[in-house]
Amino acid sequence: MTRMGKYCYSILHSCKVITDHPANNVTDSIFQKIGINLHQQPAHPIGMIKAAIHDYFDRQHPGSFTKFDNLTPVVSAKANFDEVLVPADHISRSPNDTYYVSPDTVLRCHTSAHQAELLRQGHRAFLVTGDVYRRDSIDATHYPVFHQMEGVRVFSPEDWHAAGMEATQFAEGELKRTLEGLAQHLFGKVEMRWIDAYFPFTDPSFELEIFFNGEWLEVLGCGVMQQQILEKNSGPDQKAWAFGLGLERLAMVLFDIPDIRLFWTSDQRFLKQFKTGDMSIKFKSYSKYPPCYKDVAFWISDAFTENNLCEVVRGIAGDLAEEVKLIDNFTHPKTGRTSHCYRIAYRSMDRSLTDDEVNALQEEVRSTVADKLKVELR
Ligand code: DAH
Repeated sequence: MTRMGKYCYSILHSCKVITDHPANNVTDSIFQKIGINLHQQPAHPIGMIKAAIHDYFDRQHPGSFTKFDNLTPVVSAKANFDEVLVPADHISRSPNDTYYVSPDTVLRCHTSAHQAELLRQGHRAFLVTGDVYRRDSIDATHYPVFHQMEGVRVFSPEDWHAAGMEATQFAEGELKRTLEGLAQHLFGKVEMRWIDAYFPFTDPSFELEIFFNGEWLEVLGCGVMQQQILEKNSGPDQKAWAFGLGLERLAMVLFDIPDIRLFWTSDQRFLKQFKTGDMSIKFKSYSKYPPCYKDVAFWISDAFTENNLCEVVRGIAGDLAEEVKLIDNFTHPKTGRTSHCYRIAYRSMDRSLTDDEVNALQEEVRSTVADKLKVELR
């Protein structure tokens, strides 16, 4: 049994047959994140943000919202995509973007994956927090595992009739009021704006931006739930709103945390700075160790994708990879072949890296890239 197979067996009570499926693109380092559950740690910034949002909903609507924070991140592709109406050809379904355990099982790429199932169980107001997984680029604000909170509230005709309003308008108004209140609860008096957006599961759809430290920052997506989702899973004559927000994004802004990898560190110089319930803490950077830059250049093939390169780099360097950046993109005028040069920044959050160590990582990256990605090193 492979390491991943064994790990998966014990943690997920799943079987080797599933984890060894050829469609499985989940690397060891990703599997090892399952079960860490930063959002369940009360003195961790991710757990603190969750608690602050729960606190807001408890104050606004005492006893109404049921909270879930231990639903498994291994979900069916049906729940992750089909049941929230993600079109069959939507890019997020591609194995370049999503981690597949098998052709019909994925690591959820959003907490919206639980909407339909919870509606079927009869819940009418709920908050779901959990780790979500996406194949992605490498930089200070992107990490393949992060945390989201999903919120849903269902209304009946009495609700919109009492307000003398049409159903969709009523739900939209209630949604916007609720989320503006939430942003204020977290950030104090801030400027906000609503941006029209598109999500397959809502209509109309919006994003909320707040003006923070001199720039507009998207903090969440939301909208009025597609009627089809409600009718299929909950019942007729209802209206609902839904939202999804990223906890890392909020925590980075609120606590001044400069790099998303810090959330995963076990360094006490980070962890000790946070205290349950104290939302006014500002993170003080401890000495930053110097980065080390290494370039790798190769002729790409049609199958090459940047996400695949990043997966290789993460597989080898783990959290020591701070950034992978395309610095040169060149097509040969005669042969038509395209060459990419990527600059990899290696840096540890906790210590100085030695030259030997970085050289060894870079050598392994080079040989694995040549071997696995079918590119020709230059
Ligand atoms: N699932 C979306 C994402 O991951 C976020 C989202 C947007 C959730 C709108 C919602 C919603 O429930 O209504 O980007």
